[in-house]
Amino acid sequence: MRTNVSLYLMLLLVVMTMGYPSRRSAMDLDATPRMTIVYNDLTAARRFISHAQNYTTLLLEDEKGILYVGARGAIFSLNSSNIADGSHRTMDWEASPEKRADCLKKGKNNKTECYNHVRLLQRLNATHLYACGTYAFHPLCTYIDTNKFTLPSHFEEGKEKCPYDPARGYTGLIVDGSLYTATRYEFRSLPDIRRNRHQRILKTEESPLHWLNDAEFVASVLVRESVNSPVGDDDKIYYFFTERAGEESTTISDKTQAPRVARVARVCKNDLGGKKILQRKWTSFMKARLACYIPYYEVLKDVYSLDGGDWRSTIFYAAFTLSAHWRSMEVSAICRYNISEVRAAFEGTYMEYQDSSRKWSQYNGEVPEPRPGSCITNRARKSGYNSSQDLPNGVLDFVKLHPLMYEEVKPADGDPLLVKKNVIYTQVAVDRVQALDGHVYDVLFLGTGNGWIHKAVVIGSVVHIIEEIQAFRVPQPVENLVISKQQRSLYVGSRSGVLQLPCSTCRRYTSCFDCVLARDPYCGWDGESCREFAETQDRTQLIQDVLHGNMGCWNDSAQATAMQKNRTVLRGDDVLLPCEQASNLARATWLVNGTEVLAEDGQGRFHLGVDGLLVTDTQLEYSGEFQCYAEENGLRALVATYALTVLPAPLVPPAPPTVSLSPWHAASSAYGDAKFIYIAAITVLGGLCLVLSVVLLYVSCLQKRRGKYSLGVPQAPSSVELQTVSSNCLGKGGQEDEDLGIYPDSCLQIIPGEAPTATSPSKEGPPAPPPPPPPLPAEFTNGITTLPNMLRKMNGNSYMLLRQSEEPCTSPLYNSFTEELSKILEKRKHTQLVEKLDESSV
Ligand SMILES: *[C@@H]1O[C@H](CO)[C@@H](O)[C@H](O)[C@H]1NC(C)=O
Ligand SMILES: *[C@@H]1O[C@H](CO)[C@@H](O)[C@H](O)[C@H]1NC(C)=O
Ligand SMILES: *[C@@H]1O[C@H](CO)[C@@H](O)[C@H](O)[C@H]1NC(C)=O
Ligand SMILES: *[C@@H]1O[C@H](CO)[C@@H](O)[C@H](O)[C@H]1NC(C)=O
Ligand SMILES: *[C@@H]1O[C@H](CO)[C@@H](O)[C@H](O)[C@H]1NC(C)=O
Ligand SMILES: *[C@@H]1O[C@H](CO)[C@@H](O)[C@H](O)[C@H]1NC(C)=O
Ligand SMILES: *[C@@H]1O[C@H](CO)[C@@H](O)[C@H](O)[C@H]1NC(C)=O
Repeated sequence: MRTNVSLYLMLLLVVMTMGYPSRRSAMDLDATPRMTIVYNDLTAARRFISHAQNYTTLLLEDEKGILYVGARGAIFSLNSSNIADGSHRTMDWEASPEKRADCLKKGKNNKTECYNHVRLLQRLNATHLYACGTYAFHPLCTYIDTNKFTLPSHFEEGKEKCPYDPARGYTGLIVDGSLYTATRYEFRSLPDIRRNRHQRILKTEESPLHWLNDAEFVASVLVRESVNSPVGDDDKIYYFFTERAGEESTTISDKTQAPRVARVARVCKNDLGGKKILQRKWTSFMKARLACYIPYYEVLKDVYSLDGGDWRSTIFYAAFTLSAHWRSMEVSAICRYNISEVRAAFEGTYMEYQDSSRKWSQYNGEVPEPRPGSCITNRARKSGYNSSQDLPNGVLDFVKLHPLMYEEVKPADGDPLLVKKNVIYTQVAVDRVQALDGHVYDVLFLGTGNGWIHKAVVIGSVVHIIEEIQAFRVPQPVENLVISKQQRSLYVGSRSGVLQLPCSTCRRYTSCFDCVLARDPYCGWDGESCREFAETQDRTQLIQDVLHGNMGCWNDSAQATAMQKNRTVLRGDDVLLPCEQASNLARATWLVNGTEVLAEDGQGRFHLGVDGLLVTDTQLEYSGEFQCYAEENGLRALVATYALTVLPAPLVPPAPPTVSLSPWHAASSAYGDAKFIYIAAITVLGGLCLVLSVVLLYVSCLQKRRGKYSLGVPQAPSSVELQTVSSNCLGKGGQEDEDLGIYPDSCLQIIPGEAPTATSPSKEGPPAPPPPPPPLPAEFTNGITTLPNMLRKMNGNSYMLLRQSEEPCTSPLYNSFTEELSKILEKRKHTQLVEKLDESSV
């Protein structure tokens, strides 16, 4: 906790001192996913799983309806309309035993590396695909006839085209028959951007300067700039990667390790290399820094490009995480770049390396003509430079020594779109959707390091996360994301298989409010249900409000769904009136007899929590009508109504509830001499609790939250949840007679004893759903039985207490009464005979 806080402060400092003048704070840039969809709630998900592993390479041919998948030891051809329909074709392509043995001899990992990991799958021509695999550290490539889809007998050497290492950053494209790849190929070789399958094979320059510095590539994008180009400019291939920065001496970084920076580089498609200088090398290589949020500490994870039909409107969406310096803190950022700004950087001034000072600095000298690094344009041709081979030596020498541009590429609007804590985004894919309001919205699908998908819509320069989806039961990184417009599907490649998800599941939204609040551009309310926009003929009848997310529904359309439930309890009992908000952005408000319950009730009768209203120590006059509303984005919808009846307790004497409810009380009065032993034991346990609680608090604060978000953490009174259990503190039960003082009102939390272990998979994020809780007795009418799903954490028998902390802790443990209460009630049910008073009637 402490380290995290200090890291965060440092990070803020870095942002303040070195970052870009940001108009929006980190808080503004964060977003809470509105809906949480756990694995078991996925609908219409289709999975393709076979004998293979590592389904990392995806090639979608949307018009043909085929998704090709490159995995470890196999290539698959799947029907993209339903990848699980059993009609797939398989081409096994395993590394030969000899090559595997070689690989083992080289000391490689026989569990992961000494296999044939298919890393490249690209369409070559109308009949063939081109594929490359690592082939147990001996890369091979081949041509695959897509009609036959059988393993060919002829293979090409792949060491110039495909990395040896299956985990190495790699990107490859086939453009007009030529193969453009970027990676670090061999184990010890330098990273390189190469062109193969072309009469001029090209590479990057390595002397005297390395154009690439320990680069880890994530993506490459072809931008067809030659189309309708009045200047006769050329098509370009853009590369995105992270590399060691040579150009800056930053004060914060330690000198031994140059900070890593994100880069964009580009080459021209028609580059033929130089004649004498830069022979077989790119003459058009240029690179610039890609800045997002925290300069020098960003690691690029993925880039997705979109163009609206014209290359000039190309935008790149990039996902970043913080680099190793901040490893203990997980932060991801999403930035958007316009191609015009990338081009502006490449048209700006150059950087130069000063041998004397061993530093890069801005180059202010003369720039030769034609401009170094530019493609051959009409103007160049007019001057007699028909190809890069005609370029003058001065230009080529300049190119050789000036690969880096001075200007950095800043995100569009100057700010990141999203900065998200406790998430590692590994993949990004973007769909452009026309909404009812006529605007076009970009819907981002962001894959996380632990197998979740965040679906978000970009509204202006704000990101609204529509939902977070648990795509895999076992946490694993999302390795690839592909969108099919045709199938309106998202394909997710991972270690264990390929998942097909519909781009939208509008039916999940059950009311007009819900449908509108979702702000999902794929969805609209048709008066009866929330429907897929694309499947609806008469769109004018639909209600949708992506821009504001609160307009169009009639006020009462949501009210009908909430039916009244009756609750009857005995005086002195506690009762929980559950009111679970489907939306993580909704705030619950309660009306009792038509008057709003405030967080600061004053009398301590009602306690507001994220999953319900807790009424403690009920008195006869607490009977009445309790209504729970969900308030979100200015809308208020009724979620639940309860009629609470409190009956006078017939058997229990009017003593303080803690006394009558305590198992210890009975014990102490019946066996007076056993009391001393109890007290001694309790005191010892109490001391233990204290120690453990400190540990627990620490761990629970670190624990990641998933599914339960407390809205508006900064504004909400952080103490609301913390105050609630004070009157029910278990400690009191045991220490009623003398040491109430040990646990004053500050003793608060009752959490399962397994909590420390539950927090350990901090890397894996959401834990798999634990086994169902023990069934509660049927006569248990306090409202708990209706919510078995909320008792998930309640399957351990050892519980302990936590002391109140001043620190506003964002642990999920502080947000749910249910667990605390159910434990209290669990204990009580043994001591107090509750007659079967009432069922939850609907
Ligand atoms: C995929 O499945 C659909 C529905 O079963 C079928 O109509 C279509 O022809 C199949 N596509 C391919 C490429 O096999
Ligand atoms: C991998 O190597 C280990 C130890 O060298 C050996 O025990 C294991 O059987 C090997 N596994 C395979 C799949 O070859
Ligand atoms: C596609 O390329 C393959 C491999 O070079 C070749 O055998 C095949 O004839 C080509 N097909 C067409 C239609 O050009
Ligand atoms: C392949 O999958 C296995 C687990 O299924 C994993 O351990 C390994 O790291 C993966 N390899 C790559 C290159 O992703
Ligand atoms: C460039 O092409 C033009 C027309 O094809 C030709 O006249 C000229 O000699 C060429 N220049 C060089 C340097 O090759
Ligand atoms: C909804 O209710 C609010 C106040 O309760 C009112 O101002 C608004 O006009 C109503 N809207 C509709 C569409 O009925
Ligand atoms: C609600 O109203 C009923 C009847 O008017 C009253 O008896 C009860 O005490 C009220 N309950 C609360 C909590 O104010």
